[in-house]
Amino acid sequence: MEVHPFYSNPLDLAVNTVTKTDIQELIAWLRTYPRLTMADETRLFEEAWSKWQGVKYSVMCNSGSSANLLMYAALDAAGRAGNRKVAVPATGWVTTITPAIQLGFKPVMCESQLQTYGSDLNCLEKILRKQRPQTVIVVHTLGVPNDLTAILALQKKYEFTLLEDCCASHGALHKGRKVGTVGNMSSFSFYYGHHMSTIEGGVVCTNDEELYWKLLMMRSHGWCKDLPKKEQNRLIRKYKVDDFHNPFTFVHPGYNLRSTDLNARLGMIQLHRLNDTINRRVRNHLAYQKRLQGKIGFAPGLPGDTISSISFCAMADSTAHRKQIVRRMEKAKIDTRIFTAGNLGRHPFWFEKYGEFRAPVADALYENGFFLPNNQALKPADVQYICDVVTGA
Ligand SMILES: Cc1ncc(COP(=O)(O)O)c(C=O)c1O
Repeated sequence: MEVHPFYSNPLDLAVNTVTKTDIQELIAWLRTYPRLTMADETRLFEEAWSKWQGVKYSVMCNSGSSANLLMYAALDAAGRAGNRKVAVPATGWVTTITPAIQLGFKPVMCESQLQTYGSDLNCLEKILRKQRPQTVIVVHTLGVPNDLTAILALQKKYEFTLLEDCCASHGALHKGRKVGTVGNMSSFSFYYGHHMSTIEGGVVCTNDEELYWKLLMMRSHGWCKDLPKKEQNRLIRKYKVDDFHNPFTFVHPGYNLRSTDLNARLGMIQLHRLNDTINRRVRNHLAYQKRLQGKIGFAPGLPGDTISSISFCAMADSTAHRKQIVRRMEKAKIDTRIFTAGNLGRHPFWFEKYGEFRAPVADALYENGFFLPNNQALKPADVQYICDVVTGA
């Protein structure tokens, strides 16, 4: 097993994506004594990210969680939150859901499906039919794309705003199309150990100009200072603001969720090798699938889709079986943990407010799910070693 000098230990779940060369490049840039926030780098990174992702607009912020908060806040500011009901997945990340609660949305929890560990389509349709949420958020859990074709068909039928939480699924493809290009808005995280890292960081993508404007305002105090001139002028006329007051006119009750130009610069430095990182993770994921087929549970994903995994999600036959595997992995010094948060409906933040959510797949993931390392430093031989330990070969 190779311990890479900068990637750290490939048998860890999260490893460093920032290299020594990246740091040297960053230092060289810092030596030019640039303005470190709200100058050019954030805008340049947003443009480069939009190009890479294939969307019109990107708004960088300080985390994936802030990106989720911004999506809900922008919907609200645009007056498009409707009845404020939002269908949320039982197995995603806690901040897929908590910003909605903080903003007074009414979340309705949806069961997951075995094929993708994403939202179960029957359960989602039942929620849509009975409760008519006007917003749906899906998580491409650990890089496994949801059935976006089916979800788009539901969107056509029930008319809701679709949000995609892609915080751990950079570059995953559904029918050849990048996740995060299908919904009305999508979020990404650039936290440590993700496909790339800006230390902390996140971004919201959209093709919707109105939502883009709201995202820009909600990220920065609710002011119109960051808006393109056309929209800024419209608001200034609407609210009869004079030129002197114009930049410091606060239109919405916003936040400060900005990142810095230093983080954006780090993003720019890494973006050129993101495809290579994704390819390595895809290769490892396929190797895991091949070796573990018939031996341990995992989400196969939809035929033809590309899983850009952040960790490999595995499911034991029972909690006792998981305990045995975890013991073997600990002995072999292979990092592991629970499956994201398992069933989010079994955590106090949820059940203290809404009562416990129980459903077969989400519960199975809570009770039997666990992670195997997948990162760009992991080699096929490491995958084989991990699989041998997991299966007790
Ligand atoms: C699906 C999902 N959503 C949101 C987040 C939050 O991102 P951050 O840690 O950058 O706040 C994560 C973090 O890994 C995640 O996996």
